[in-house]
Amino acid sequence: MSKHHVSTTINGEPTEFLCEPQLTLLDVLRDELRLTGSKEGCSSGDCGACSVTVDGRLVCSCLMLAVEAEGKSIQTVEGMAKGHDLHPLQQKFLEHAALQCGFCTPGVLVASKALLERNPDPTETEVRYWLAGNLCRCTGYDKIVRAVMDAAAEMRGATP
Ligand code: FES
Ligand code: FES
Repeated sequence: MSKHHVSTTINGEPTEFLCEPQLTLLDVLRDELRLTGSKEGCSSGDCGACSVTVDGRLVCSCLMLAVEAEGKSIQTVEGMAKGHDLHPLQQKFLEHAALQCGFCTPGVLVASKALLERNPDPTETEVRYWLAGNLCRCTGYDKIVRAVMDAAAEMRGATP
C-alpha cells in the first residue's frame, strides 16, 4: 500500500513521517516516532489513555488518522516536562501519589493540562467532569483530582 507523506509539528518540533492511510495517529506516535507515552487502552475512544492535543484541542489519538495530522500542532505527554523540569501537574502527581500502574497517567496528564489551559481555577466537580473520559483502574480518582487541584493552585500562584 502506498504511503502518505505527512508534515506536522509534535511538541513544538517540525516532524515528518510516512504512513499508510489506515494508521491512527496513536499508531504512528508509538510505532514510528517512538513516542510511547501515549498508551493504547481500548482503541475505541473509551479510555483516554491515548489523549493528545491537536491544535490545542483534546483528542483521542486512537480515533484520529495519522494523515489528519498534516499541518497540525500535536502535543503529547513527552512535551510536558522541560528537560529535567517536570510540569507542575507531573510534580503534583508524584507528590500526591496519584498513580499506581501509570497506564492511564499520560492521558490524564495531557487532559488535565488541557483543562487548566482553559480553566485555571476549576472546581472539583469541573475536574471530575473534565476527566470523565479518562479511565483509571487503580487510584479511585481522588488522588488524581487532588493533584490536579493542587497543581492548578500552584500554577495560579495561590497559597494552599
Ligand atoms: S486507546 Fe484511545 S481512548 Fe482508549
Ligand atoms: S494508575 Fe493504573 S490505570 Fe490509572
